Amino acid sequence: MIKTLGQQLQSDRRVKQAKGLLLAALKEHQAKMKPRPAHKHLQKHFDQLIAKCSQLRGGQLYYPYLSSGLGKGPLVELADGSVKYDFITGIGVYYLGHSHPKLLSSSIDAALEDTLIQGNLQQSTATVEILELIVKTACCKGAALKHCFLTSSGAMANENGLKIVFQKHAPAKRILAFQRAFAGRSMVTAQITDKAINRAGLPKVLAVDYVPFYDPAKPQESIRLAKAALLKHLKKFPRQHAGMMFELIQGEGGYYPGSREFFVTLMKILKDHKRAILVDEIQTFGRTSEAFAFQHFGLDKYVDVVTIGKMLQVCATLFREEYKPQPGFISQTFTASSSSIHAAKTIIQELLGGGYLGGQGKIQKFHQHFVARLEGLAKKYPCWVRGPFGFGAMIAVTVLDGKMESAKEFLKVLFQNGAMAFVAGHEPVRIRFLIPVGAVTFSDIDRVCELLEKSLLQTVKGMKLENPTC
Ligand SMILES: Cc1ncc(COP(=O)(O)O)c(C=O)c1O
Repeated sequence: MIKTLGQQLQSDRRVKQAKGLLLAALKEHQAKMKPRPAHKHLQKHFDQLIAKCSQLRGGQLYYPYLSSGLGKGPLVELADGSVKYDFITGIGVYYLGHSHPKLLSSSIDAALEDTLIQGNLQQSTATVEILELIVKTACCKGAALKHCFLTSSGAMANENGLKIVFQKHAPAKRILAFQRAFAGRSMVTAQITDKAINRAGLPKVLAVDYVPFYDPAKPQESIRLAKAALLKHLKKFPRQHAGMMFELIQGEGGYYPGSREFFVTLMKILKDHKRAILVDEIQTFGRTSEAFAFQHFGLDKYVDVVTIGKMLQVCATLFREEYKPQPGFISQTFTASSSSIHAAKTIIQELLGGGYLGGQGKIQKFHQHFVARLEGLAKKYPCWVRGPFGFGAMIAVTVLDGKMESAKEFLKVLFQNGAMAFVAGHEPVRIRFLIPVGAVTFSDIDRVCELLEKSLLQTVKGMKLENPTC
């Protein structure tokens, strides 16, 4: 078998030795890492860096977070020397935790490639491998998503998905989506995102008709309402909708899962009306009992276009044969960096072969443990903790009075105490967690729950919140 010069470089013995040295150095430095507050003598410089960063980017950072470049599983070291538990993981991107040795190794493989960022006219064999892995994973239970186009962000994956769907259903001008939907922050996806503040001042570039989401407290009633709303929109604007966007577990909207019956009811109507079914899995991919949430809910035969991003390190739009766009219609100078593509290969192999999925998989086990601990908190502080909510590896609670101001204050205190989470949804706001499934342990979860309790009590005291009768 003839080896190219590139392959010879990749398998060069010195590369293997260098990798071994780097991995040994990583392990040695990681071994010293444990949760700790900032170093006093680094604090001033760190604060200056944060102020400079906010000034240069034209807006404050949510957290004073600048990484030192090193982490260990659920822990991350910041440039002030503090080491914190990361239970939001960049809103779902450090799925295997921080500084995972396998990802260091894949980054070295990527660094040996001539191309830093792949795309339009510059792709390597690694692109073919990741496309094949994604398509195989998507189709393994019967979905017909034969094609996959890599792209640079979740919003762009949705843009490409929407373009494909609109081209196929031209001259349709409208789209259907759920109330509380989040689709991204580009001009078009900001129109679909059901949050007025995200499109303040923007011209209306797309007409969106909303359908109410599933309510687990009133399953049949919510199915009836959603069905009626969908039929009403389809009747009012015949053949004017290109399709409907689905988030099977609403993410930014507040961690609300739907049900198979709910989705099938709506998807059957859309199929009858020959409208496209787009499923946005940018946050849900890798967070349920199956790789794709549409597989978890058994919707394989319905999906036409599916988007992914976040935990996979690459973003992509998958689509059926019938939705293949005209040549040149979707194209980008940059689709994904070589390091993202190599990382994505590692992550997807770990997800499929590392015992994450299924009823007894890691996702389910960590879900049960975390939820049990949060239920304990809700029982102990019924006035200040409601929930837990969510699904699989997407977990949330509401704290204090559910107001945004209180949630933000709570997160600030939690951050100071050494753990990170984030907000989701409208008031009552939820505190959400996207745990690093590939790195977390039960005792990490226990430790973070202790920090949640400590931070809760401190916030109540600090904000002088009154104890409501409940
Ligand atoms: C469901 C969903 N769609 C789209 C996006 C946008 O992805 P990105 O921030 O990578 O553009 C997100 C990001 O949070 C998301 O959760």
